Amino acid sequence: MRLNLRAHEEEYIGFSTIIWAIIGLVFSGLCSLNFTPTEAATPISNADLDLIARSCPDLESLNLNAHRSRIELDEEPQGVEPPDVTDAGLCAISICCRKLKNISLRRRKGVGDVGAIELAKHAKGLSSLDLSWCSKVTDRAVGAFCALSSLMALCLRGCPFVTDSGLACLANGPLSRSLRVLDVSECDQITDLGVCLLRHIPLLEELSLADCGPMITDVGGIAIASIVSLQSLDLSWLINLSDATLIALARNCRNMVEINVTGCELVTGVGILSYSNHPALKILVLASCYGVSANDVERMMLASPSLRYVGLDKSLRGWMPSSLKLEAFSEEK
Ligand SMILES: *[C@@H]1O[C@H](CO)[C@@H](O)[C@H](O)[C@H]1NC(C)=O
Ligand SMILES: *[C@@H]1O[C@H](CO)[C@@H](O)[C@H](O)[C@H]1NC(C)=O
Ligand SMILES: *[C@@H]1O[C@H](CO)[C@@H](O)[C@H](O)[C@H]1NC(C)=O
Repeated sequence: MRLNLRAHEEEYIGFSTIIWAIIGLVFSGLCSLNFTPTEAATPISNADLDLIARSCPDLESLNLNAHRSRIELDEEPQGVEPPDVTDAGLCAISICCRKLKNISLRRRKGVGDVGAIELAKHAKGLSSLDLSWCSKVTDRAVGAFCALSSLMALCLRGCPFVTDSGLACLANGPLSRSLRVLDVSECDQITDLGVCLLRHIPLLEELSLADCGPMITDVGGIAIASIVSLQSLDLSWLINLSDATLIALARNCRNMVEINVTGCELVTGVGILSYSNHPALKILVLASCYGVSANDVERMMLASPSLRYVGLDKSLRGWMPSSLKLEAFSEEK
């Protein structure tokens, strides 16, 4: 069971929200806390987390995602720094709540390696961890996660200090046998060296390398194609990836359901057409792929019975024959 707290109802703002949450948790056997603070909400502080930690040792799921607008507020020069969750709060939760399964800390910029490592040390049953845009987190923390043999989903989107050596840990530790979902998009220090090691994560189903920069090329792309369990792959804005990657993926990853190659400038019709007659592919996103023509898209669609959705730029949509358009843009045929 879970409890959702919405702080935009005036009377429930702030500390009393937390008190009510704890009362709820303690007396009704709830084990999930989901804070969805809006701009008006009193920010959650370390003191609040400390209280939660000591009152709710059975907590299994904690959503502390920060609102985007709050972050922008923080960055105003003359604004008073509101209290925020930092490593100390995460340490309190980690030490007391050993049954945590899911924790999400998006945009909690106060959280870094100290808290993340403490979490890895104690939450032995952790199944899903989202540290998107916790921009202080580095490879040291990733090194600690590698020991988490229960972790199935790890999101490190926008953690710019995560590099190839972080990926090497993920690929070599006990975690490599449990991990199903990995998002390292916007980690722009990652290169082919690290990407090649991801093939040692044999059960990986979802991978995002979007916006990881120009140091990922077909060398990395072809290595990924050896992960036969892949079902969803986001390669957006990898400007040095070309048709060679798409051809290898189409040949080897027969379970692939969704591919996003938005902004992959080197991809052409040759790469796209390698998906003709693919048994599983349902979704293909080709926005800003200027090397792909309407004719290529049309030919591929006619030859791909499994395809349900093709994402295109407006300019390309205009050229599509209307009979095909319907198929291309309805989610389900
Ligand atoms: C916890 O994470 C797992 C794996 O990512 C997910 O399937 C599940 O829905 C999550 N549960 C909650 C309560 O968020
Ligand atoms: C990738 O792209 C950049 C910028 O377009 C280029 O300078 C570089 O040589 C390319 N190749 C590699 C292997 O990084
Ligand atoms: C594909 O990638 C682009 C750019 O990263 C993103 O905006 C879009 O939402 C993605 N589309 C899908 C269907 O995942």
